[in-house]
Amino acid sequence: MSPHTRTVPASESPTPAPPGAGARAPLTPGTLRTIVRDLAEQPDRWIHHVRLATEERWYRRLVAEDDHEVWLISWLPGQSTGFHDHGGSRGAFTVALGELEELSLGGPDQGLLIRRVPAGTARAFGPEYVHDVRNTASGPAVSLHAYSPPLSSMAHYDLRAGGLVRTSEEGPEQW
Ligand SMILES: [Fe+2]
Repeated sequence: MSPHTRTVPASESPTPAPPGAGARAPLTPGTLRTIVRDLAEQPDRWIHHVRLATEERWYRRLVAEDDHEVWLISWLPGQSTGFHDHGGSRGAFTVALGELEELSLGGPDQGLLIRRVPAGTARAFGPEYVHDVRNTASGPAVSLHAYSPPLSSMAHYDLRAGGLVRTSEEGPEQW
């Protein structure tokens, strides 16, 4: 018997949890970043899912747990998400192959921020985050994305002179 094992008498058997109590707290952005970074270092778990499609980004869900999910996205040069949110989920992504660019609004004047996200780097964000991710490099890219709770909806935005304007919303039935 390991030192952590304890025999539970029948009288201590747990009482049923109330409805909804099984829903676990969302994972933090930092934990999600660790998940995608660890996965990126194990290409045998995802390399066979990489597929380059000319019509649009190719994506495949690799992990579906109660409290988080992980997607692989393959990008050809020029492919992009457009500005979008994550329906209140926290998230993180890392570039496993190639390089991506991330656009977001930030700073004191909510100006446009452009970040290079080369292979080996990761970004993590909270539930209100809106960004546009694109492959502006000359070659393909592969990225890994984790969300907690799993994505339930995603709204799209146009960047106009006055800021971001919400244009549409999609749900899992479109994925
Ligand atoms: Fe995103």
